[in-house]
Amino acid sequence: MRIVDSEREEDDILIEPSLRPSTIDEYVGQSEVKENIKVFIEAAKIRDEALDHVLLYGPPGLGKTTMAMIIANELHKNIRTASGPAIEKAGDLAAILSSLEPGDVLFIDEIHRIPRFIEEILYPAMEDFTLDIVVGNDASARNIKIDLPPFTLVGATTRAGDLTSPLRDRFGIVCKLKYYTNDELKSIIERTSKVLNMPIDADAALSLAKRSRGTPRIANRLFKRVRDFALVDGKDNIDLETTENALNRLKVDIYGLDEIDHQYLESLIRNFNGGPVGVETLASSIGEEVTTLLDVCEPFLLQNGFIKRTRSGRVATEKSYKHLGINYQENLFM
Ligand SMILES: Nc1ncnc2c1ncn2[C@@H]1O[C@H](COP(=O)(O)OP(=O)(O)OP(=O)(O)O)[C@@H](O)[C@H]1O
Ligand SMILES: [Mg+2]
Repeated sequence: MRIVDSEREEDDILIEPSLRPSTIDEYVGQSEVKENIKVFIEAAKIRDEALDHVLLYGPPGLGKTTMAMIIANELHKNIRTASGPAIEKAGDLAAILSSLEPGDVLFIDEIHRIPRFIEEILYPAMEDFTLDIVVGNDASARNIKIDLPPFTLVGATTRAGDLTSPLRDRFGIVCKLKYYTNDELKSIIERTSKVLNMPIDADAALSLAKRSRGTPRIANRLFKRVRDFALVDGKDNIDLETTENALNRLKVDIYGLDEIDHQYLESLIRNFNGGPVGVETLASSIGEEVTTLLDVCEPFLLQNGFIKRTRSGRVATEKSYKHLGINYQENLFM
């Protein structure tokens, strides 16, 4: 298992509910998204109407599910949750839709994975609050229309580009979640430390934040591991020394890069002269899946200026050379 993987793991599923903030003011960071959503929620309440449909997108672990729950909570409405890949039949979606109460929030996670023919049921449901379904089969088949109560669909996806345009166009509010700053992650870690009842020093929290890849889920996961090291060392708070030792042992470096990122950059620089090289070639040179590199490694390496994506392939930047202690100039003339 990759400690800095931002995908959900079993361990997270157990612990996440207790760490999730439940009001918009407790939700750290994403200030633009938060301010806008606050206004739209307020307006919906004043008009006594359902909030417009909301699409939340961004990399795993940045707080999409958390935000969906907060929206329902702030609206004082119930939330029904469903997951794109789990909706296999038109009837599954019809059943969920027809059970909604006025103003309810329907949260569909991984919404880009709903099969296309089922997605079409969502169009009239989102636009006119009607359910258009076919009942019976063959000769006796007929269309029926059922009125739905006004509701709010909150869709979450890590891949906004995979959403069909008719679906995307039906969301009135579209929010992109960004990677968090170190200060924001530090306050998330300090909050987690209170919830889990294990104090952490300010410098230790900042060091942890810096290695969390801008991602709250990773920050919380690293916190738990560091807490284990502190516990075994017989400490009742987490200090900087324990944090740095633990993270070094977990092979997470000062930028939050782990062994796979290191292999990626080493191979790019040493085997391919810093690029350009295609991602498939790179993946096979280090024995990793292309999708791991595309979904997990590269977004962070790109965002932090370790690599560039050019038309002819990936290129290592000066920052990568420096970080790995390889002479940049020298390499330019090779
Ligand atoms: N803004 C935030 N403030 C405090 N904690 C947060 C925030 N965002 C996320 N978290 C914490 O990070 C964890 C992961 O968040 P969440 O499950 O909402 O991510 P997600 O974007 O839905 O991920 P995925 O794409 O895998 O579904 C949660 O346990 C939550 O406590
Ligand atoms: Mg989620």
